Amino acid sequence: METNLTNTNDFLSTKETLLKEFQNILSESGLQSELPELFSEKGEVKVNFTVKTLSKEQIFDSFQIIKSQIENLRIQTFESGFYSVQALNENLFETKNILDNIRFRFICSRTSNRIEISKKDNFSSSDLYTIVSLYKYFCGLDSKKNVNPREILQKLGVTVFDPVEEELKGNLLNFDHIAGYEEVKREIRDSILYPLQHPEFFDEVARITKRFPGKNRPRAILFEGDPGVGKTSMARIVSCLTMVPMIYVPIESILSKYYGESSQNLAYVFDAAALFPSSLIFLDEIDSLAGSREEGLFEATRKMLSVLLRKLDGFEGKPKTITLGATNRKQDLDPALLSRFDKSIYFPLPNLEERAEILGNYAVHLSLEDRLDISGHLEDLSGRNIKDYCDYTERRWASHLIEKKYEISAPEREVYLETAKLFRLRNV
Ligand SMILES: Nc1ncnc2c1ncn2[C@@H]1O[C@H](COP(=O)(O)OP(=O)(O)OP(=O)(O)O)[C@@H](O)[C@H]1O
Ligand SMILES: [Mg+2]
Repeated sequence: METNLTNTNDFLSTKETLLKEFQNILSESGLQSELPELFSEKGEVKVNFTVKTLSKEQIFDSFQIIKSQIENLRIQTFESGFYSVQALNENLFETKNILDNIRFRFICSRTSNRIEISKKDNFSSSDLYTIVSLYKYFCGLDSKKNVNPREILQKLGVTVFDPVEEELKGNLLNFDHIAGYEEVKREIRDSILYPLQHPEFFDEVARITKRFPGKNRPRAILFEGDPGVGKTSMARIVSCLTMVPMIYVPIESILSKYYGESSQNLAYVFDAAALFPSSLIFLDEIDSLAGSREEGLFEATRKMLSVLLRKLDGFEGKPKTITLGATNRKQDLDPALLSRFDKSIYFPLPNLEERAEILGNYAVHLSLEDRLDISGHLEDLSGRNIKDYCDYTERRWASHLIEKKYEISAPEREVYLETAKLFRLRNV
């Protein structure tokens, strides 16, 4: 199902999306039913479908399916055989325009059983999920069966970095892509690479040492350090070295993109991750959830944080999932969140020798002596700054070659030294 459930800008695209999903579900189920009706009327969008049976158990299961997407709801029943599920506002005390929210009606009559779903204007992406899940359920398809975690994640706007694909493209990364940082690499080997590559060693050691059964494999590791020191790159490298897919979760963008749905979506990310045989969940910019819970966080942030705390606890039984978090502001992180990480790995700014090593990746034509010399002028710069500085130098050099009609060559030490001053001036 290659549909994009998040695109709900207009009814036509909603209709197209839903019809495609319904058709797929119907053909997969092998049922000979008619497709649900979909229409827009008096400013409302509606989906109706008849079902063979509508038992109490099925209605109860439906409530569960709806509840998994919509936190606050009200169930009304006026007469036997009629139930209405009305989504309430996020804030339960805010009752304005409740009737504009999505509503599900379950109607059992002597002649037929129907489900009618309606909402003002248009369905949201989470509404669409609910509708599709309900329809799936009534077509007898277990929604847990045959799910492709990649598809689920894609729909949530989360990308999966797949080292197998990278290998096919010849793009596999290794530790050399981050120059220097030997201590960081050592810690990563001990706390992430080996536990993923040789879990049995860790379990056996724990078996010998521990009085009561227990594990010593890490579940969550924090990468901490200034912007541009290679935290995100290192997560990709870990994925390539272990050939374990990395689920890249930019917390900031999930928060801003989905507001009310963000905590639910984060829960889905973890659930979908659990469907992989093994995975790395990379929570980038985790400081978007920063701040202590007492300080009146935004509702969405608070909810998301509480989901994250629960999920990080819940992964105990899943030894093949490791959660990585990255932050520039460890000191601002919620203490409860911080305590969930087994270990924090600090990425310092590179020192003189390391800056020369980084130059070795981006100015490979220079001698070590030249690089050390230039490196002395790049104090306090991060790996990203140094990369940008090299790009800057090359571009200036290329323009110079064009203007002077010189033959193509690489910039020499003096050119780098000259641009170091300009670059620093530009970037203060
Ligand atoms: N030690 C290094 N050697 C080579 N390249 C480096 C090094 N450190 C950083 N870089 C390069 O700098 C760029 C930025 O790195 P990256 O995005 O991993 O940093 P980050 O720590 O995640 O930053 P942010 O906190 O802003 O997200 C990448 O292209 C990376 O390859
Ligand atoms: Mg990063």
